[in-house]
Amino acid sequence: MKAVSQDVLGGPDVLHTIDLPRPVPGPTEVLVRVHAAGLNPTDWKHRATGGLLGEPPFVLGWDVSGVVEEAGAGSVIYKPGDEVFGMLRYPFGHGSFAEYVTAPARTFAPKPAVLDHVQAAGVPLAGLTAWQALVDVARVRDGGEVLVHAAAGGVGHLAVQIAKARGAYVYGTASAAKHDFLRHLGVDEVIDYRSTDFTTVCDGLDAVVDTIGGDYGPRSLTVLRPGGVLVSLVRTLEAAGLREQAAALGVRVESMLAEPDLSALKSLAALIEAGRLRVAVAAVFPLDELGKAMELGESGRTTGKIVLTVP
Ligand SMILES: NC(=O)c1ccc[n+]([C@@H]2O[C@H](COP(=O)([O-])OP(=O)(O)OC[C@H]3O[C@@H](n4cnc5c(N)ncnc54)[C@H](OP(=O)(O)O)[C@@H]3O)[C@@H](O)[C@H]2O)c1
Repeated sequence: MKAVSQDVLGGPDVLHTIDLPRPVPGPTEVLVRVHAAGLNPTDWKHRATGGLLGEPPFVLGWDVSGVVEEAGAGSVIYKPGDEVFGMLRYPFGHGSFAEYVTAPARTFAPKPAVLDHVQAAGVPLAGLTAWQALVDVARVRDGGEVLVHAAAGGVGHLAVQIAKARGAYVYGTASAAKHDFLRHLGVDEVIDYRSTDFTTVCDGLDAVVDTIGGDYGPRSLTVLRPGGVLVSLVRTLEAAGLREQAAALGVRVESMLAEPDLSALKSLAALIEAGRLRVAVAAVFPLDELGKAMELGESGRTTGKIVLTVP
């Protein structure tokens, strides 16, 4: 099978297409023919730094939408031909920038029929991150108040819709050109982070989702109600001293990494089928242009998701 790999760390030009043996599904696994693979910031961070994976060679990619080709021994929930989508286990299950992947069958949920593979591939990692941050960690519920930083980004645009679907009042930050997009998603108060300090607008919130880092962490702590929670997706808390600052303010802070989660993925699919969760696809590239796709993503200005198609 074709896959996009790298032998050294570096810029987009280290990526190249190679031939690899088609993987064989082990017991309880399925082999999935990848039709589309979502791109996430962690892909270009790993390409450049090795991150949690260390030294290449490796094939990156965690998001998949595709068709089950073969079920391994004892795997009964899917049969060949089933359309599925999912997030490969983070970090070590990577490899969706390829024609085929294998993974435990319950990594995948049935692809929502209302989405094509390109749209579906944009959902799992960003959607599970948003779901796990808001539902599992922050336990956002009816009447809660939530701030989502980078609300127009891959994680953010799904997070604001999930928070709305759970009955929350939602604040979202983005540059002014993206405010109409945020309002369409249901954001109650949009904040232009370039002209307005969010700490002057938000106060007494139940939760903040931080996708930015830097001084956003300490500043976000100050807009929480007592017992409120900052869910940090981007930093090591201990290094930033955030736990001590949170304790002093009587608020909580959690650092979270998204995990495959069949039940949450089915919940996302149900919201999608019900028309309550939309995925915005900013750009689509063929897999052999992964480097170009990453260059666009690394600009940091994407609205929604970038997706690779795997012909
Ligand atoms: N821990 C986890 O499990 C996990 C999972 C997923 C992602 N993440 C991390 O979360 C971060 C976001 O991921 P993503 O996929 O959402 O990224 P993304 O789609 O690349 O985010 C792009 C968006 O960020 C916005 N943005 C940039 N700087 C901003 C600022 N200062 N204030 C408000 N918005 C700003 C941009 O809007 P403008 O053009 O308006 O600036 C753009 O819409 C990444 O660092 C990623 O690695 C962590």
